[in-house]
Amino acid sequence: MDDLKGKYLGQIADAADETALESIRLAAIGKKGEISLKMRELGRMTPEERQVAGPALNALKDEINSALAAKKAALGDAALDERLRGEWLDVTLPSRPRRAGTLHPVSQAGEELTAIFADMGFSVAEGPRIETDWYNFDALNIPGHHPARAEMDTFYMHRAAGDNRPPNVLRTHTSPVQIRAMEAQGAPIRIICPGGVYRADYDQTHTPMFHQVEGLALDTDISMANLKWVLEEFCRAFFEIDDVELRFRASHFPFTEPSAEVDIRCSWAGGALRIGEGDDWMEILGSGMVHPSVIAAGGIDPEVYQGFAFGIGIDRLAMLKYGIPDLRAFFDSDLRWLRHYGFASLDVPTLRGGLSR
Ligand code: DAH
Repeated sequence: MDDLKGKYLGQIADAADETALESIRLAAIGKKGEISLKMRELGRMTPEERQVAGPALNALKDEINSALAAKKAALGDAALDERLRGEWLDVTLPSRPRRAGTLHPVSQAGEELTAIFADMGFSVAEGPRIETDWYNFDALNIPGHHPARAEMDTFYMHRAAGDNRPPNVLRTHTSPVQIRAMEAQGAPIRIICPGGVYRADYDQTHTPMFHQVEGLALDTDISMANLKWVLEEFCRAFFEIDDVELRFRASHFPFTEPSAEVDIRCSWAGGALRIGEGDDWMEILGSGMVHPSVIAAGGIDPEVYQGFAFGIGIDRLAMLKYGIPDLRAFFDSDLRWLRHYGFASLDVPTLRGGLSR
């Protein structure tokens, strides 16, 4: 009995996998197993012999069964450990360049303009795309009856029946971030706010979602001359060509006084969009000296602080700089277009290293 026990427990301990365990089980306690055969011999024994051998064989069978079960569980744990080791993945490793995706021209333009404005001391502020009526309009000196509201082609969010608050809107411009940033930071302040905006409009140079970058600079001694210098300096750096021609046009915005729009000289000849030549002008931004009511809405004293603001169309900048004639293609997600106009995702634009090389 002791020999049998030593033999099978030893084999179980040495078994390498579940298949080996199963053959040991068959050899020992299967129908024709060694121990099962011994149990069949019990019938031929004397009652006295049987009284000793019977319980001993049963105990041995139980012992082998539990040794098998324990080993099986251990093998299962080891197999799981092995699998976990094999499938381990270090998600902190850098991506491989092969089959890398590319940066969308809007993202690229956003990175470039952020680098330029950062160099001029502007930091980045952000706000929500679903905006309240107050931030998107009232705080920017656009009260409920103002015609500018109708001109904006605003997308309104749903309000439950009985809720009489004005509906929230998909922000029609990045200007509300001016108010949020003034509230959060106070003055003096120098920020840009890049991000998506929405208007119900669709043609070659308009899509229902597009991108703007808002700029705001408030201090005790800021004038329109500073605004003009910042915008000219920005355009020269962004387009990376010296003969960028800008046209400042007197304009009107409720949130600035005085206001100016800026167009850039370009050509559409032969269906190709080119900058720095031609007889066409493309409007790229609105700007002006921030209206005192807007400064007050941001919680800042307009008697002490003044400054300028601007809103630039990022998609327009990308179209002009990279010669992409149709804005609608920007948002078609056509892989061929994305590969053609995309930028290497690991090249970070800097003023020193080059913006778009
Ligand atoms: N919010 C204006 C728009 O979407 C753009 C703009 C104009 C922003 C003048 C400004 C500004 O900050 O001063 O058309």
